[in-house]
Amino acid sequence: MLFDPRPKEKLKDIFDRENEVELLKRSLDSPLIIISGLRRTGKTSLVKSVLNEVKAIHIFLDMRRFENREYIVYKDFLGVLEREVNSITKKWKGVLDHFKAVKGVSVAGMSLSFSWGKERTEFSDVLSSLNDWANEKGRNVTVVIDEAQELMKLKGYDVLPSIAYAFDNLRNVNFIITGSEVRVKTKFLKLEKENSPLYGRAHVEVNVNTFDKETSIKFLEKGFEEQGINFRKGEEVYEGLGGNPGWLTYYGYVYVKEGDGQAMEYTRMYARKLLSKELCDFLVEGGRLGSKERYLRVLETCKSGCSWKDIKNALEALEGREVNDGTVHTILQNLLDYSFLVLEGKGKYFLADPLMKELNDVRCSGL
Ligand SMILES: Nc1ncnc2c1ncn2[C@@H]1O[C@H](COP(=O)(O)OP(=O)(O)OP(=O)(O)O)[C@@H](O)[C@H]1O
Ligand SMILES: [Mg+2]
Repeated sequence: MLFDPRPKEKLKDIFDRENEVELLKRSLDSPLIIISGLRRTGKTSLVKSVLNEVKAIHIFLDMRRFENREYIVYKDFLGVLEREVNSITKKWKGVLDHFKAVKGVSVAGMSLSFSWGKERTEFSDVLSSLNDWANEKGRNVTVVIDEAQELMKLKGYDVLPSIAYAFDNLRNVNFIITGSEVRVKTKFLKLEKENSPLYGRAHVEVNVNTFDKETSIKFLEKGFEEQGINFRKGEEVYEGLGGNPGWLTYYGYVYVKEGDGQAMEYTRMYARKLLSKELCDFLVEGGRLGSKERYLRVLETCKSGCSWKDIKNALEALEGREVNDGTVHTILQNLLDYSFLVLEGKGKYFLADPLMKELNDVRCSGL
């Protein structure tokens, strides 16, 4: 059902995305795959559906669960890892044997428990054991880290050396890492930073973009058709929401449950909440909270498109003084890096999500 608001788990429920599905399928033997995209574009759905379709043995480490936490500790991460590894031990006999001699792991009956005390379980040892088992079976284990940027909040433990170790040494383990492009690639994996454990590692990238107008309209028509509704307002909905599959799905879901009246307003409210959280995370994470008004002013200025000069003028009007080019450049680059703005055509910037227009009252306190 296209309007199911949860991530899709089967390819038959995924609309469009033929190229992304093919690329991911083709790349499943690569050691590192990065799936990036804006919020609600369908990253999780793509990964889950493809892995299920090809019956890949995988563990799914959902880091989104930590999104409201200020920080996380290794125990939190191990808890998720333990549950997922146990889902494999239940399905596949023989996995447990490979964990018996591992430091910090105890085996009771058919399940494993990991320890975070003095003799803590190391992530690299878990990966090694999975690799040994997979190697024996002639299979592969895919480790998905969904919304990996949340791991930047992990205190006292760094998972990157384990991922680098697996990349270099464990032929039967590979990784799919999802998240927003800059935060995952540049800030978390730090693939381009010379002193990072993962520096220079080759990877495959799959970008999950928003739908264009035509695809959005078709998506809505097909979703409503499944519900026995002949829907003719696709264009109007696209004008109101843009082409984010998450917003369109939510719209269809509310429409089917509550009727036409509330669907647009509820969807906008829902989207605004998520987008303002994204913006707050960006401001807080980068220590940019003090410049919140500047960023909001730039987004406001660009709501129907803006040039570099428009941005500079808007910042100078806000501050009542000259703002130097370097400052304008930094603000603009940050907004582009984090996909709040996109460059279209020659020197013209637009909001990546049209609903960002409505973010005029962003409160980031309490984070
Ligand atoms: N191609 C698609 N076909 C059908 N439904 C989709 C598609 N892409 C996304 N959806 C729907 O949109 C919503 C968001 O999808 P999903 O959770 O996979 O996105 P995400 O990018 O992982 O989001 P988040 O950033 O919140 O983690 C879900 O309700 C999902 O079912
Ligand atoms: Mg997701």
